[in-house]
Amino acid sequence: MTHNNTKAERTGFGSKIGIILATAGSAVGLGNVWRFPYMTGENGGAAFLLVYIACILLLGLPGMISEFIVGRRAQANAARAYDNLSGERPWRFVGYLGIFTATIILGFYAVVAGWCLQYLYASLLGHVQGSADYAQTYFQQFASHPVKPVMWALAFIIITHMVVVRGVRKGIERASKFLMPILLILLVILVIASCSLPNAWKGVEFLFKPDFSKLNSHVFLEALGQAFFSLSLGTACLCTYASYFKRDTNLLGSAAQISVLDTLIAILSGLMIFPAAASVGINPDSGPSLIFITLPNVFQQAFGAIPVVEYVVSIMFYALLVFAALTSTISMHEIGTAFFTEEMHMKRRNASFVITLTASCISVFCAWSVGAWDSLKIMGLSLMDFCDRLTANILLPLGGMLTCIFVGWFIPRKIVFEEFTNQGSINANLFLLFVFTVRYICPIGIVLVFLHQLGII
Ligand code: PHE
Repeated sequence: MTHNNTKAERTGFGSKIGIILATAGSAVGLGNVWRFPYMTGENGGAAFLLVYIACILLLGLPGMISEFIVGRRAQANAARAYDNLSGERPWRFVGYLGIFTATIILGFYAVVAGWCLQYLYASLLGHVQGSADYAQTYFQQFASHPVKPVMWALAFIIITHMVVVRGVRKGIERASKFLMPILLILLVILVIASCSLPNAWKGVEFLFKPDFSKLNSHVFLEALGQAFFSLSLGTACLCTYASYFKRDTNLLGSAAQISVLDTLIAILSGLMIFPAAASVGINPDSGPSLIFITLPNVFQQAFGAIPVVEYVVSIMFYALLVFAALTSTISMHEIGTAFFTEEMHMKRRNASFVITLTASCISVFCAWSVGAWDSLKIMGLSLMDFCDRLTANILLPLGGMLTCIFVGWFIPRKIVFEEFTNQGSINANLFLLFVFTVRYICPIGIVLVFLHQLGII
C-alpha cells in the first residue's frame, strides 16, 4: 500500500485551514467546558489554574509540537509512524498505547456527551429551567435512570461512527469554521451574564485569587492530566491528524494557536460557571455534575425575564456543546479506525465498527457506574471516574512523555530540524530551546509529578 493510497483512504480532509480547524476541534470540547471547571472546582481554584497554565506552557506545547513532528514526517497511522521514524519496532507500542487510551476516553466521554444531548433535547422541550434544587434533582433523576443515559451515550457514539465511516468530514470542518466562533461569542455572553449575578465576585475570586495552601501533590497530577486531556495530547491523536498537514504548515505556530484558543475557552468556561455557582450556592467541588446543575440557573436568572431568549440561549448552548464534543470524539475514533484499516488491512467500515463496539461497551458500564449501578467501583472510584483518572492522570502523560523522549533522543536531529523549521525556513532560532525542552524538561517534569504523587519525593 502506498502512502498516497493510505492517505486517500484515511480521510477526506479538505483544505489546510480545514485540518487545522479539525485539530483545534479535537482539542476544544468537553475537556474545556465540562472537565476544566469541575477539576478546578475540586482542586481549589486559582492555584490549580496557575499550575495548569504552567503545564500547558512547559509540557503541553512542546509535547504537541513533538506529536506534530512525528505525524507529519511519518505520514502514517499512530503505530506505524513511530516505527517508521525510529526504524525500531518497539516504539510502535507508543502508538498502541495511544489507540488504547483514545478508545477508553471515547467510552466515558460519550457518557458526558450523551448528557449534553439529553440536555439539548430537554431544552427543546423547554424543560431545562428552574431553581438550583430543581436542576440538581433533574440531573440526579436523569443520570440514575437505568436506560436513558445509556441510550444517549450510545446515540452519540453512533453519530460519531457515522461521521467517521461516511467521511462527511468536509461538512464538519466547514461547519466548525463558523460554529467555533459562535461558541466563543456565546461563552462570552454567558460569562457576562454569570458575572452580573448577585455575589458573583466570590466565584471570580475563587478562579483568580490563588490560595497556595491548597497546592498538594495531587493538584499537580490533576493539573498535568487536565492539560494533556484538554490538548488531546498523549493519545497519538494529534500525530494522526498531523499526518494530513501540509508541508508548509508552521508546526510551532499552529501548536501555539491551538493551545491559546484551548486555554482561553477553558478559562471562559470557568468564568461562566464559578460566579453563577457562587451566586446560587452550588459548591464548586460538586464534581462531574457541576456544569449541568449550574447552567440552568444562569439561563433562568439572566434571561428568565424574556422566556424566549432563555429558551433560545439554552438550546444554542447545548447544541454548540454537542458539536464541540463531536469534533473531539471523531478524533478519538479516527485513531483506532486508521490503525485497523491500515495495519490490519480491514475495510474502513469494519475497522470503525470494532472501535464503535468497544467504546459502546465501555460507555454502557460507565453510564451505569455513575447512576443506576453505583456500586460498580474500582479502587474506590466509580468505573467512569476510574477510566477518567487512569487515562488523564497516567496514560496521557505517559504517552506524551514517551513522544517527547522519542523526538528528543531517538529521531535523527536533522529530521526534527527539518520538520520544526520547515526545511530551515522558519523558527530556526527556537529550535535549540525546543530540543532542550523535549529532551530534559518534559520527561523530567512528568516523572517528577508522578514521583511526587506516589510520595517518593
Ligand atoms: N481534548 C478533548 C477535549 O478537551 C478530549 C480529547 C482527549 C480528545 C484525547 C482526543 C484525545 O474535550
